[in-house]
Amino acid sequence: MTTAPTTAPAGAAHGVLQGVVDLDVAGPTISRHLYGHFAEHLGRCIYEGFWVGEDSDLPNTEGIRDDVVAALKAIDIPNLRWPGGCFADEYHWMDGVGPREERPSMVNTHWGDVVEDNSFGTHEFMRLCELLGAQPYVSGNVGSGTVREMSDWVEYLTRSGDAPMSRLRREHGREEPWKVPFWGVGNEAWGCGGNMTAEQYTQLASQFSTYCRDHDGNQLYRIAAGPNRDDYAWTETLMKSVAALGGPVVPKHHTSWQALSFHYYTHATDDWQHKGSATEFGAEQYHSTMVNAWRIDEIVRGHSRVMDAYDPDAAIGLVCDEWGTWWDVEPGTNPGFLFQQNTLRDALVAGLHFDVFHANARRLVMANIAQTVNVLQAMVLTDGPTAVLTPTYHVFAMNARHQDATSHPVQVVAEDARHEDGTGSYRTLTTSVSSRDGSALVSLTNLDLERPATVRLALRGRDWQVSGATLLTAERPQAHNTAEDLSAVAPAPFDGARREGDVLVVELPPHSFATVDLSL
Ligand code: AHR
Repeated sequence: MTTAPTTAPAGAAHGVLQGVVDLDVAGPTISRHLYGHFAEHLGRCIYEGFWVGEDSDLPNTEGIRDDVVAALKAIDIPNLRWPGGCFADEYHWMDGVGPREERPSMVNTHWGDVVEDNSFGTHEFMRLCELLGAQPYVSGNVGSGTVREMSDWVEYLTRSGDAPMSRLRREHGREEPWKVPFWGVGNEAWGCGGNMTAEQYTQLASQFSTYCRDHDGNQLYRIAAGPNRDDYAWTETLMKSVAALGGPVVPKHHTSWQALSFHYYTHATDDWQHKGSATEFGAEQYHSTMVNAWRIDEIVRGHSRVMDAYDPDAAIGLVCDEWGTWWDVEPGTNPGFLFQQNTLRDALVAGLHFDVFHANARRLVMANIAQTVNVLQAMVLTDGPTAVLTPTYHVFAMNARHQDATSHPVQVVAEDARHEDGTGSYRTLTTSVSSRDGSALVSLTNLDLERPATVRLALRGRDWQVSGATLLTAERPQAHNTAEDLSAVAPAPFDGARREGDVLVVELPPHSFATVDLSL
C-alpha cells in the first residue's frame, strides 16, 4: 500500500481517504489462519472459559462449554494455540493424560501462582478443537522440557500402530491418532521461555524441531519462537541459521522448522506497571493507544524485510502468535489472571491489525489474538452462565469472509487523515479489500475520535454492486458489553455506502468499523 499522508488541518470536518483497487489483480491469499486464536492455562481462560467439567449445570459437551464453542464456531475460528504462552514452557504433557483423578497437579508459577490440577489436558484440548472445527496449534516445552518429552508428545498425538506412545494413547481411550498441523517450538525464549540469547535458542530450535517427526502422513508446520516486538536481530539470527544449511537462500531440504513467530501487544502507556485502564480512558490515552497499535505495521514489515534477505521466495512463514491490547486488570480481580474489559477502542485496534495483516499476507501466514476467553483482548467474557460477546468478537465476525480470500492491494492516492498531538501521530483511516466466490468484502476503520470520514475507492477491473453493509460503532469509544447489556456495541445494518460511477463512497462516523459487501 502506498500512502501520501498529510496532516489534517485543525478543525477539519472530515477525514478523507481516496484509493484505487484493481479487482482483477490478485494479491496474496489471506490465510484463514490470520484469524487464529490462543488459549492459555491462565486465569479463567481454560477453566470456566472453556472447561466447566461434565458435572456442571452449564450446558456442556464432555465438560466443554457449549455457548463458548457456538460463539467461536460462528466466527469460523480456524486454529487454536494451546497450552501457552509462558505456561507452555513449564507444562509437562504427561501430567495431563490418563484418568483425571490420577493426574498430578502443579503450580502455575507465571499466572497467579495457582495450583493447576491438569484436568484439562491433551485429550480435552483435542476434543475442544474437534468441537470448534479448528486446527490445533500445540506449543511444546523447550524452556524446562526435554527433546524426548516433546518428541514423545508428537508421537502420542499423531502416530498409529504399535509404537510406545500410540499404545499409551490407546490405553487412555483414543484409538486413532489426531492430525496436528501446527507445532510451536517453545515460547518467548528471550523471556519467560528460558531467558535465552538468540544464539542459544536458535540451536535448541533446530535440535528440538528435528525430533518432532512427521508420523503417518501428519505434516507438522514447526514454528520457532521468534522475537519480541521489533527485535530484528533475533529474526536475523534464526534466518542466518537456516541459510547456513545451504547458502544465501533457504534450501529446499530445510526441514528443521518452517516458520518463526513474534509477539506484539498494544498498551496505552510505556509503563509496564500501568498499561492503562480498559474502560476509563480519555482522548490522550485513546491517542497513544492508536499510535502504539499502528506499530504493528512497521514491525511486520521490519521482520519481513530481514526474512526477505535470506528467503526471497517466502518459504519460511512469519507468524504473529500473540497480539492484541493489554490493559491493567479489572479492579478487584487477580492481577495474575489478566482479566480485562473490551471496548469499542479494542475493536478498532483489531480492525487496524487485520488491514495490516492482509497487506502483508505474502509473508505473514498466521496470527493469534491473545486470548480467546476471559483473558486480555478476548472474544468472549463469561459471567457465570452468560457468555458476553465483546466488540472485538464482532470485528472477527464482520471480517470472517476475508479468510482464504484473494487480497486486492489498495493504492492510496490521497489521504488527509492523520491525527497528531505532542506525543506522535497516527493514520486515522485504514481499509482492505478481498474477493472470493463472486463477492468482495471491503473493511474500513475510522480511528478518529471526533471526526467522521469519507472514503472513496475507485474499484476497477470487474463490475460490482453494493449488496450490503454493516457498521460497528457506539456513541463513546469506552462502550462495552456486559451480562446486563449484551449489545451496547453490536453490528448494525449500515446505509453509509454507495456507488458513484466506478467509485465506492463510504461515509464513516467517528470511531467506527464498517464492512461493505460487493457482488461481483
Ligand atoms: O498472553 C499472555 C502472555 O504474554 C503469554 O503467556 C506470554 O507468551 C506473553 O508474554
